[in-house]
Amino acid sequence: MQAEVVADRLVYIFRFIYCGLYLSVWKERIGGVVPVAATMRGAEHVTLQAVRARAHPNVALVKYWGKRDLHLNLPAVGSISLTLGGLYTEVTIQPSKANRDEYRSNGRLVEGAPLSGLGRFLDLFRALSGRQERLSIEAKSNFPVAAGLASSASTYAALTVALAALYGIRLSKEQLSALARQGSGSACRSIWGGFVEWRRGERPDGSDSFASRLVSPPDWPITVIVAITDFQPKHTVSRDGMRQSETSPFYPAWVASQVDDLDEARRAIGAGDLERLGSVAERNCLKMHAVAFTARPPLVYWRPATLAAVETVWKLRAAGVPAYFTIDAGPQVKVLCRTQDRATVQGALAATPGVRKVILCHPGGDAQLVEGFH
Ligand code: PMV
Repeated sequence: MQAEVVADRLVYIFRFIYCGLYLSVWKERIGGVVPVAATMRGAEHVTLQAVRARAHPNVALVKYWGKRDLHLNLPAVGSISLTLGGLYTEVTIQPSKANRDEYRSNGRLVEGAPLSGLGRFLDLFRALSGRQERLSIEAKSNFPVAAGLASSASTYAALTVALAALYGIRLSKEQLSALARQGSGSACRSIWGGFVEWRRGERPDGSDSFASRLVSPPDWPITVIVAITDFQPKHTVSRDGMRQSETSPFYPAWVASQVDDLDEARRAIGAGDLERLGSVAERNCLKMHAVAFTARPPLVYWRPATLAAVETVWKLRAAGVPAYFTIDAGPQVKVLCRTQDRATVQGALAATPGVRKVILCHPGGDAQLVEGFH
């Protein structure tokens, strides 16, 4: 064989290996579920139009607490949530006039770590679309942000839907969910309305870790009442709280017992059994906070009014009203009850010392584009 032909073949082989490596790294970065074809749209020269999307936060009934991969935001455990109607975040995106990404949350300019995190998330979409423009992002929530009400879930779910529309990338809801997961874990559940399950998945590239719907919203007359005990942003963000919690001697037991809780919650939702669902949600919440309490250093998200609201729920139950609480990484208490009991539960929580505000939520729908906005 001539030297020239051998050299040609070697170049070809090296190119092939390089290409394969590049694609697998890229595939890992975006969570392994977005087809390569999504990048081949040929829309690189189209002027980007402003887009707006809206998503609801969700309340975890069986909680995500702990990661199996920090970089890809892969959970150590599966989780189940209910999407909350009434509360929402609207995200508007347009090309930035400055030469950098800009982010405003409820009118305030966001800088530092949250802006860098957002930049990394935008880079996923820039890689998918092949476009490099810097973007201006405006997020508006109609509820307190960073206070344990899952504003990061609604924000990143809305962002995901808006970014896919901005770049004209057509993705399934599962693919949107896998992308949203990389902005904020719980955001992958807010892509869907109703009862939603996020599977832990086994694969290292995260391609089997996204959320899907268990039941659509109207099937069950259920209400969630949120008791706000503190408007301040939480002292420890979930990401840090999860890492800290791994130091608890109870952490391995938390992970091991999650499979049973998920199974119990799935069955309860399937049967429309509030008592069964509420009981497992309370147990699961207390387990998560027990892990946080016993971390080194200890991590306490509760305030005195948090415990007072928990006692109110137990008193309601003792009086024959089926109401069940759960608490995420913050001091607010979320109470699950039958829609017919909402006034009683709302009144009891509002009268609880230290409760600052009570918000009533019905089950919410999918994240979606805000129509008619240009
Ligand atoms: O998605 P993150 O990183 O904000 O973490 C959410 C953690 C909890 O709200 C406490 C539990 C959950 O499943 O949403």
